[in-house]
This record gives sequence, structure tokens and C-alpha cells, in this order.
Amino acid sequence: MLPVSDTPPVYSKPKTPDILDRKHSYLTAVKPYLSLHHRRTWFFLAVLLLQLLLLLSAPSLPFSLSAATPRPSPALDNLIPDNPTSTHLAGDTILDSPASCPYGKVYVYDLPPQFNTEIVKNCGGINPWSSRCDALSNTGFGKSAAAAISGTVPANLSGAWFWTDQFSLEVIYHNRMLNYRCRTAAPESAAAFYIPFYVGLAIERSLFTKNSTTAERDRHCKMMLDWVGDQPRFKKSNGWDHFITLGRISWDFRRSRDGDWGSACIYMPAMRNITRLLIEKNPWDYFDVAVPYPTGFHPGSVADVAAWQDFVRRRDRRTLFSFAGATRGFIKNDFRGILLNQCYSEPGSCRVVDCGGSKCANGSSAILEAFLDSDFCLQPRGDSFTRRSIFDCMLAGSVPVFFWHRTAYLQYEWFLPGEPGSYSVFIDRNEVKNGTSIIGVLNKISKKKVKKMREKVIEYIPKFVYANNNRGLEGMDDAFDVAVEGFLRRVKEQEGGYKWK
Ligand SMILES: *[C@@H]1O[C@H](CO)[C@@H](O)[C@H](O)[C@H]1NC(C)=O
Ligand SMILES: *[C@@H]1O[C@H](CO)[C@@H](O)[C@H](O)[C@H]1NC(C)=O
Ligand SMILES: *[C@@H]1O[C@H](CO)[C@@H](O)[C@H](O)[C@H]1NC(C)=O
Ligand SMILES: *[C@@H]1O[C@H](CO)[C@@H](O)[C@H](O)[C@H]1NC(C)=O
Ligand SMILES: *[C@@H]1O[C@H](CO)[C@@H](O)[C@H](O)[C@H]1NC(C)=O
Repeated sequence: MLPVSDTPPVYSKPKTPDILDRKHSYLTAVKPYLSLHHRRTWFFLAVLLLQLLLLLSAPSLPFSLSAATPRPSPALDNLIPDNPTSTHLAGDTILDSPASCPYGKVYVYDLPPQFNTEIVKNCGGINPWSSRCDALSNTGFGKSAAAAISGTVPANLSGAWFWTDQFSLEVIYHNRMLNYRCRTAAPESAAAFYIPFYVGLAIERSLFTKNSTTAERDRHCKMMLDWVGDQPRFKKSNGWDHFITLGRISWDFRRSRDGDWGSACIYMPAMRNITRLLIEKNPWDYFDVAVPYPTGFHPGSVADVAAWQDFVRRRDRRTLFSFAGATRGFIKNDFRGILLNQCYSEPGSCRVVDCGGSKCANGSSAILEAFLDSDFCLQPRGDSFTRRSIFDCMLAGSVPVFFWHRTAYLQYEWFLPGEPGSYSVFIDRNEVKNGTSIIGVLNKISKKKVKKMREKVIEYIPKFVYANNNRGLEGMDDAFDVAVEGFLRRVKEQEGGYKWK
């Protein structure tokens, strides 16, 4: 739900800070225990042993296989039209209107299971340190967080909260896509083609294994591209009407030299024209599309969204601004260290949520509460430009304060208001380094203006949540709808292929 957005930089300071990923929540949870030479080490080992025993002894635990596999919709699968020109999927009144798919339909490739469902089945081995089985259960939402969150949110909304991991996008999108109202089972009548390959999960282990070879990090992607490259529709279009979800940041797939971080997936020739939906894009690559990080809130209906919007709108906010992140181990002059110092020096106006160690990883609702109680939240870049915290913050109706354009403005254009000043505050990082006081800037913004910005943030909530409903919010577009429709619209606009300049 509310995982740590930064990992304490106590270990191996990367040479290429953009690339080395310290955002992994498990890493965050585990490292401090390993690095502390006291009782906690033993506690950690005991927990690890216990988990191991549980895994070995209970192959049918609820979070193991079946729950973690995306549910194909039996209804839809039975509806494969005999007549491929059929424009609607019989038996479903919502789908009868051709106007509901103005940009055409999507064909979902049936990939060999080793590219998706088997990766999830082997969830225990995805990450070198800990199991991802819980995180990937529940079609990528993770386990229910209702109990932990019930004291913080209205009772009838706690069921919409899950322990969602920020890297679960591939599973979430695949499940929704299988049930998408504009899915077609006939490639001939499709405008776009979805490749449900979980690359991010496939490469996770090799990303974090020190001695992994580049061949290991590239293997899955190569295999997938070989497979897709053989498909007639891919050959026909060179892939420009194909898309895929990559559940990590773009830089994890952009290794250009052998010794560097990551997989070279995006640089493989056949990938060139395939659009990738990612949590952080390279803003200069047309084929990268940034989509919202999944948060822990997954409303089932328009009513849930409205109730949540109402809740955050009425919230009494007593703190001017908040900062959530790891507070230990900042190197001197680290920008986050400057923010942290400013925050600590204004205890009446700024609230620090120390997410060092495992403090935010255990189900505490500390981050959500801090955002719910603050007018603004500070969103510096971490090791990469974006953080999930941006969305945790806005979900709570708090107005984000950015220091880099690439943190949001050059990322999530389809999901956030076009006018940055309407929903967020931008303070140049160099001014902060020069001594500009954050509280000074924020205090100058009138209450009326704050209210207006918050209203804008609240208005956009549906566009950055992922609905807990196979059909979406039914009456409102969620992040999935915006992303897929955005891609379909692009394909239609391109009319016959991307014009390479
Ligand atoms: C990497 O190291 C692990 C243990 O340290 C070992 O089991 C594995 O075989 C090694 N892999 C390669 C490719 O050398
Ligand atoms: C990408 O698309 C362009 C234009 O259609 C085409 O010339 C090129 O060969 C494609 N690249 C690949 C690797 O298919
Ligand atoms: C939740 O309860 C509140 C009042 O207790 C009500 O106004 C709201 O409509 C309910 N929301 C949902 C989604 O049932
Ligand atoms: C989570 O951790 C915090 C701080 O480490 C602790 O105060 C809190 O009680 C923990 N919550 C649960 C549910 O274990
Ligand atoms: C910061 O201060 C330096 C030195 O005084 C100055 O050259 C620079 O323009 C300032 N930058 C900003 C963004 O104010």
C-alpha cells in the first residue's frame, strides 16, 4: 500500500544515480536489518526462517498460485466471435454500442505462459531477497490492507485498500486487458495489439544479483521479441500498433554498455516501434508512455471514488507541508537532506515521516495520515526522477511540490492537468540550494489558491487510480482506461504508422 519510496542510501552509492534502483520496497525493508549488528539481525533471520518454513510447508497458501494469476474472463473467452466482423461481444449490453470504442479494439496476444503466468507462479524466485507472492496476489493488488487502514479512512472504504507494490503494473494491466470492454478476439478487427509479457518481473532477479550476466538480463526480452516478431500482424506494421506494459522505470531497460545497469530490452531493434507503458519514461522517446504508479487505493465503483474525494476534501489539514522518505544516511548536499533540514527546523509547519528502515513497510498508515493532514507534500527526485509518493500524496488531496520538471510534468501528461500551476507548486532546486525557504514560498500562497489547487488534485484522482473492477469504474475513466484509450487514439492519429523523422 504505502511502501517506502526511497531506500536509505547506506549501501553502494551508485555512480549513475538515475539508474541504480533503490526504490525496491523489499530492499528497503531488509537492508537495515542486515547492516545493523545487534538484536534486530537475529529478529530478521528468525522472520526469514519462518517465512521459508511457511512457504515450504504450505503450497496452497492463499497468496500462492491461483490468486496470483490474472483471471481470464470466462465470459469473454467464450465470446470469441465466429464471425470476426462482429462489432460487439454478444450478451453484454454495455458493449453493444459501437460508440463505446471510438478508437477501435485491442487484441491480446496469447503468449506462452513462461512469459507471464509462470513468472507469477514462481513468485518466490522473482526477487533475490524475499518472496513477491503476497505482492502479486489479488491480480497484482496484493493482500487486503483493510484492517491496517481502518482507523484512518471511512469504514466503507477500507475494503478498497491493498498492500499494492509499486512494481505490479504488468499483472494489473494484463488482468484488466483480458476483461477490457474494447478487447477483441479477432486480430483482423483489432486496431492495436497488447503483448502481455511481464518483463519487469522477469528481469528483477538478475537486476539485483551482482554476478548476473548481461545475457541473463536480456534473455527473456529476446525470446519475447523472437516470438512476437513471427506474428503476421507485427510483420505487417513493424510493431507500431503494438504495446506492452513494463512495470519498472525506463532506465532499467536501457543498458547501452556491457558493464552498466539493467537490461537492454528497449534498445533491441524489434522493440523500436513498440509502445511501452511504464511508471517512468524517457521523455525524449515517443514510444515510452508514463502511466501512474499503482497506489494502495483501488475503488470498485464511481461511488467509492466520490466517497473518497469527499473524505479528502473535508479533511482538516493542520500541517502546511510534509516530507516522507528515508531520513538517515543522506550524503552531504544531497538535495533531500536540504529539504529534510528545512522540515526539521519548522516543526510546527512541516511533518517528517521517517521511512528509513522498515518504518513504512509494515502496514502503518503513517504516510497516508501525514498526507491527509498536510496542504502540501515535498516531492524531490530520488535516484530516478519519479516516485510513487507523488500519487500517494495527491490521492490524499495534498498538493505536490516539485523541484524537477521531469518528476511529473514531463511524465504523466495524459493523467494530470495540463497547467502545472493549477495543481502543484514548482520551486527550482537551485533556488533551494541557494537558500530559498520552502515555508516562505508556501506561506505566500493564499488559502483560497491552496483550496483551488487541492480541488484540482481531487478532480484528477480517478485518472490515477486502478479500479478494483474488471470492467473499470463503469462511468468514469481510471488510469487503465486513460492509458489504453490514449494509445488507441495515437494509433488512429498515426493512420498507418509512426512517421519517423
Ligand atoms: C552467482 O553467484 C551465486 C552465489 O553467489 C551462484 O550460485 C551463481 O551460480 C552465480 N552465477 C553466475 C552466473 O556466476
Ligand atoms: C520501425 O518503423 C519504421 C517505420 O515504419 C520502419 O522503417 C522500421 O523498419 C521499423 N523498425 C523495426 C525494427 O521494425
Ligand atoms: C459510505 O458511508 C457514507 C456515510 O457513512 C456514505 O455517505 C457513502 O455514500 C458511503 N459510500 C459508499 C461507497 O458506500
Ligand atoms: C509499524 O512500525 C511502527 C514503527 O516501527 C510501529 O510503531 C507500529 O506499531 C507498527 N505497526 C504494526 C501494525 O506492526
Ligand atoms: C544561486 O546563486 C548563485 C551564486 O550566487 C547564482 O549564480 C545563481 O544564479 C543562483 N541560482 C538561482 C537559481 O537563484
